[in-house]
Amino acid sequence: MAHIIRIFGTDAQFPCDSGENILDAALRAGIEMPYSCRKGVCGNCAGAVSSGQTQCSPTASAEATPPGQVLYCQCSPLGDLEIAPTAWKRIEPGARKRFVAKVFRNTRAAPDVSILHLRLPTGQRAKFSAGQYLQVTLPDGSKRSYSMANPPHESDTLQLHIRHVADGQFTQIVPDLAPGDSLEVELPYGHFELNEASEAPMLCVAGGTGFAPVKSLLDDLVRKKSQRQVTLVWGSRDLAGIYLPEAVQRWRKSLPGMHFIMAIEDPAQAQAAGAFQGRADAAVKANFQSLAGYEAYCCGAPPMVAAVRAACTQALGLEPSQFFSDVFVPGPAA
Ligand code: FES
Repeated sequence: MAHIIRIFGTDAQFPCDSGENILDAALRAGIEMPYSCRKGVCGNCAGAVSSGQTQCSPTASAEATPPGQVLYCQCSPLGDLEIAPTAWKRIEPGARKRFVAKVFRNTRAAPDVSILHLRLPTGQRAKFSAGQYLQVTLPDGSKRSYSMANPPHESDTLQLHIRHVADGQFTQIVPDLAPGDSLEVELPYGHFELNEASEAPMLCVAGGTGFAPVKSLLDDLVRKKSQRQVTLVWGSRDLAGIYLPEAVQRWRKSLPGMHFIMAIEDPAQAQAAGAFQGRADAAVKANFQSLAGYEAYCCGAPPMVAAVRAACTQALGLEPSQFFSDVFVPGPAA
């Protein structure tokens, strides 16, 4: 049975089947709200239910759920509802497309990271915003999510940074993908995008292959000849995890006032590289006295993003609505 979900203070509404979660129903109806993991981990989809009853999955993270809100990716309506998301917009119909892309280069950037370059069929272009992601469909029908690392104007190719996960069904075969091999991809997905209307200084924080969407954002800023002040903090356990230093060198030349901070947890390697020794959230706290007036863009594993969010919003005065994140959760896409 379908229930009707209205968005508070607007005439927007969409149907949601019993047992379907609110986020999936909204996306199906062409209404996009903030989200990232779709697995109840990141908290990006949290919002209020202003009237009506919901049933929420017991696996939804209590830590990721702000008081008085629910995680829309984990809750289903028990009747008609009125919700008050923190933000929403209509998705352009037909914006998401499927392609059979071909591998044209596959390089090992770090012991556990492959960079996969895909080319779309001749004459076809992918439309996406810097920071968004795609889904790869595997032969068994399951999907994996990866952010585009290339900027949107390079629209006939797709660059993916893939961290090898132990026993990962897809990442086990990634090192063996060769030029000419095909992959079925669908894009764009995601709500992690550059706020183009803003000139606020930016703090970008990447953990591991969370660097990929940040790279797309910064390459896009270069393309647009942006004058925004940018600080990039790239956190890794060891130096090998800072796997694309040439991109950073390029931005230092092209983005005026770009500041780069390496945060390396291994003490000896941090000292040898002249890096901050410690985690990314500690590097942020050590390098800023206040983030009032900033925008923060943070991508990586759930604990890293949670720690950076707390550092930015609780310790350094960043407006919580100005913290944008993409949380990487391994395994099948939800
Ligand atoms: S918790 Fe819902 S999208 Fe991450």
